Amino acid sequence: MKHYLSIDDIDSIPSWLSLAAECKKAPLKYRKLGEGKVLGLLFFNNSLRTRLSTQKAAFHLGMHCMTMNFGSEGWALEFEDGTIMDQGKAEHIKEAAQVVSQYCDVLGVRAFASLTDKEKDEAEMVLNGFKKYASIPILNMESATGHPLQAFADLITISEHSQKKNPKIVLSWAPHPKALPHAVANSFIKMMGQNPQFEFSITHPMGYELNQDLVQHIPVSYDQNKALKDADFVYVKNWSAYQPYGAVLNNDPHWMLTQDKLGQAKFMHCLPVRRNVVVEDRVLDGNNSLVIQQANNRTYAAQVALLKILESL
Ligand code: CP
Repeated sequence: MKHYLSIDDIDSIPSWLSLAAECKKAPLKYRKLGEGKVLGLLFFNNSLRTRLSTQKAAFHLGMHCMTMNFGSEGWALEFEDGTIMDQGKAEHIKEAAQVVSQYCDVLGVRAFASLTDKEKDEAEMVLNGFKKYASIPILNMESATGHPLQAFADLITISEHSQKKNPKIVLSWAPHPKALPHAVANSFIKMMGQNPQFEFSITHPMGYELNQDLVQHIPVSYDQNKALKDADFVYVKNWSAYQPYGAVLNNDPHWMLTQDKLGQAKFMHCLPVRRNVVVEDRVLDGNNSLVIQQANNRTYAAQVALLKILESL
């Protein structure tokens, strides 16, 4: 049984990329593979792209899909062992995961970071709770520390639009009024690390250093203009501070991505995006924005991950 929990579950990036291209060309080619199989999607947080693109991917593979907004519709779940459940939590993950496993063949889970409890977030309490107690494969639809479906869609997009074998790719922090998780940035960094042919670097204000275990030796600059010079792709994303965990330290509007800073580079963002806060209209409405293509590739990223899971059943 295969899970897709992180990009470490991709056995071969070239073969996943070529399968994504095949699925994009002929989306229904593997529709027999999922016939009679049920995909359950549990959302503890909001979604537009992940929900619809994963459902579409399931449809392409002949699967039936059941979706539940668990955060608002399901019983509040207890994840700790040995708790006296006399407070707000009505159901334990042990029963919930085993019950869902009887209704579904594959289970997608979306559960963001709390940004208040670093230890629990890093332990991936929700995702790993389902992994531990479910008896079916788990698909990560964005967890506390990673968004591997997004990262694979991003790689598909870069591979489709790069004119060079070794493009210069920059991940740039941008301002945002709310504290956002690190998941998208984390998975993008990991994906760049799996593709050492890219000239990859990160730029952010002082204080927004990401998890050093992931960043390792990737060049980091506090000077956005310098970092963006001659870039081929600029991936913009906000994240809250890692230390102090979840804090908003800086909302300097000078970090918003403008057309002048982008120059000739392609612009990428996972969406949703706040216009004229994270990035100016001219960039999003310009010819170099890839955000719609990225969102389209979410379907084929999910389709390949599901296809690999189905093959392993
Ligand atoms: N990029 C992304 O995961 O979008 P949603 O939050 O709308 O699913």
